Amino acid sequence: MENPSTANRQGRNCCRLVLFPLPFQGHINPMIQLAKILHSRGFSISIFHTRYNFPDPSNYPHFTFHLISDGLSELEASTLNALRIIKLLLANCVEPFEQCLAQILSSDDSNYRVGCVVSDALWYFTQAAADKFKIPRIVLRTSSICSFLAFSALPLLRERYLSYMDSRMEAAVLELPPIKVKDIPRVETHDGEDMYRAIENMVRETKKASGLVFNTFQELEEPELAKLQEQFLKPTFTIGPFHKRFSAASTSLFTQDGSSISWLDARAPRSVLYVSFGSIAAMDQQKLKEMAWGLADSMQPFLWVVRPGLVRDSEWLAVLPNEFLEATRDRGYIVKWAPQQEVLSHPAVGGFWTHSGWNSTLESICEGVPMICSPFFGDQMVNSRYVNDVWRIGIRLEKGLERGEIRDAVRRVMVERDGEEMRQRVMCLKEKAGFCLNSGGSSYQALDALVNFISSFTSPN
Ligand code: UDX
Repeated sequence: MENPSTANRQGRNCCRLVLFPLPFQGHINPMIQLAKILHSRGFSISIFHTRYNFPDPSNYPHFTFHLISDGLSELEASTLNALRIIKLLLANCVEPFEQCLAQILSSDDSNYRVGCVVSDALWYFTQAAADKFKIPRIVLRTSSICSFLAFSALPLLRERYLSYMDSRMEAAVLELPPIKVKDIPRVETHDGEDMYRAIENMVRETKKASGLVFNTFQELEEPELAKLQEQFLKPTFTIGPFHKRFSAASTSLFTQDGSSISWLDARAPRSVLYVSFGSIAAMDQQKLKEMAWGLADSMQPFLWVVRPGLVRDSEWLAVLPNEFLEATRDRGYIVKWAPQQEVLSHPAVGGFWTHSGWNSTLESICEGVPMICSPFFGDQMVNSRYVNDVWRIGIRLEKGLERGEIRDAVRRVMVERDGEEMRQRVMCLKEKAGFCLNSGGSSYQALDALVNFISSFTSPN
């Protein structure tokens, strides 16, 4: 981990950066980590944030915080799903963002200039505002490059494959191997067309940005990085994994249950399957029951995060049958939210059943933990395909959430030879992730290049 005070002393980059995270856990974590990284290199940091899901400013005394009115009512904020919230935010935040930026620029003095805006890729409207004020914009894409390439190709993929999406789900997508038709990111709600348009806007405005930052590392996605650079023709900085420079504990929107760690302390090395589907995924009651029985049938110990809201129309664990709770009492532990990075680095954890959100995937790789993947939507579809087919460090459940397939996958990862081979491969990636952050490593160099790139915006020549 970097030491902010030492690194800061090397800093000569007095300009201020405006960072604007999309207000969801999987986007806030990497943006705040990036803020800490850039602050450690001498930049001043201003965080623009919505009222909805904002990080606690008292955890970051060195940053300034600026509220952007998001226009969400309390009812909307507490009842709508993530897609609908995003749709509203994309409409409501345009003017408040511009006003806030204008305000901060007008209070600017020559020793304290705004160097650039760094915004989440999905905040595509920030490009127009940055252009208006003639400030460079850098895009942070918080997910993998491989999934971003799929988003970038989405209009084409929908046109070519949409007609048989349901009848030939296993067919290969020739333009993006090893993606299958069923991995094409889909939005199946009545807001679908709005979301597809938002994704197109995201890609189009990213192409106008001055540069791109990804929370990944070169050795993990080398061919994808080359392809991206060919398509986007922009300086691209792969400076991840961010959380290995600065942890995300302080950005957690939920209370982390520390008893997860004491429970793990009493378990044998690599004996426990950790199960968590991130901060947004939701399922019906039947799916949760299938998960429960798959875990029970596997006979393996498990630490399971059942986030309130994970199961639609259900009080926390109300839907779990007593027979399941009885059968797994001695080997299962359920919490509402865990300190995930600590859990994954715990010696007792031998596997991670994940929804394949990018932060979770990267955190698992960095601890050398093989995965079982149950993607729900968006980038998760592509991330899980790469885990299964390209990096071969996990198993994608192909039938959805089905008791028998779950049992077999858990046993393969936790006790069979197959799982051991996946572990060896993921350990190898873990090592590469460590090297890339060290002096001379790919992410180390990319960060130096990014710092120079941003500094050049405000340098006198
Ligand atoms: C969202 C999208 O769903 C995901 O596909 C995209 O890649 C990023 O944005 P989310 O679903 O929350 O994110 O998943 P993920 O990217 O894995 O991020 C979850 C974060 O919450 C991780 O940093 C993880 O460490 C943390 N977490 C999760 C906890 O701290 N405790 C938990 O119990 C579960």
